[in-house]
Amino acid sequence: MTAANLPLKASPKIRLMSGIRTSGTLHVGHYWGALRNWIQLQDQYECFFGSMDLHGMTTAYKDPGQIMPWNREVIAEIIAWGVNPEKNVLFIQSLVPEVLELFMIFANLTPMGWLERVPTWKDSEEENKASDTHNLGRFSYPVLQAADISIFLGAKVPVGQDQVAHLELCREIVRRFNHLYKGKLPEPQALLTDTPVLPGLDGRKMSKSYNNGLGLTLEEKDLRKRVNLMVTDPARARRENPGDPEKCSVYGFHKLYSGDEDLRWVVNGCRTAGIGCGDCKGKLSENINNLSKEPREKKKDLLNNPMQLDSIIAAGCSRARDEAQKTLKIVKQCMKLI
Ligand code: TRP
Ligand code: SF4
Repeated sequence: MTAANLPLKASPKIRLMSGIRTSGTLHVGHYWGALRNWIQLQDQYECFFGSMDLHGMTTAYKDPGQIMPWNREVIAEIIAWGVNPEKNVLFIQSLVPEVLELFMIFANLTPMGWLERVPTWKDSEEENKASDTHNLGRFSYPVLQAADISIFLGAKVPVGQDQVAHLELCREIVRRFNHLYKGKLPEPQALLTDTPVLPGLDGRKMSKSYNNGLGLTLEEKDLRKRVNLMVTDPARARRENPGDPEKCSVYGFHKLYSGDEDLRWVVNGCRTAGIGCGDCKGKLSENINNLSKEPREKKKDLLNNPMQLDSIIAAGCSRARDEAQKTLKIVKQCMKLI
């Protein structure tokens, strides 16, 4: 065979790694902050996406029996919204235990001061004390995240703004590793995704502890109930009072889920008191429901077929472990441990 008729080799794709911390049923913030980007990035990169349950354990450790059902739900949800489990590696973090070995290697390369300065630690110490999470597991969270990324040789990491400091720390650890052991681990770059800030139903930040989140695949009637709880512009205390959509979370959600025509209907109707907040919320529920109907059914199918889901998870974890073992071998060779 001459060079001219050799089959064209596809250029290797850049590695991308990301994960969702396993902390319960996903809410719409997970879609707009992570899933939506993963769906778009999956064709362009070689992707490793994980249900990060060891990170979930930092808050769930008192009730760890929840973690495995949550893992299954996270994986089912990721697939249901359109991430292809054959083209991407979908895995559960705790089923790739190699990551913990790399974590321990990285732990020695991480001065305490680096971790003390990470905003997600520094700014929540009091909160952590109150919730019994002021401990080593929580403190070392970013080191484990660095190990997650490096164990898959991740070069790009799609994350929101809140994770930038973790990525910076990961780069520092990797630089130290490469310097000390003459390694070639990639310094991962954050792929900053434009993530809309979603308010919770009560207008505060969407958070599990406030119970103000909107589930990602709610049944239609539960969806309507939750949307009805959303706070509206207080100026519209009565139906006949006009309001300002910009001061209302309902409109914030319309911007994500509704088309131009509906948006005009909301803005005009709100400002002229032509529509009531009930009408406005009804339209929003309808539009969210239209978008989530299909994934909701797909997720149910997956969860109702445990054998199928188990085999998808097993296949993903096995591919993830193969890669993780390869990396660990290289790491140990650099360190002259083998
Ligand atoms: N810390 C991330 C979050 O809270 C979740 C996560 C864990 C992650 N490991 C990761 C994200 C590795 C990207 C890469 O959103
Ligand atoms: Fe909010 Fe819609 Fe009511 Fe205006 S009409 S205040 S946008 S819910």
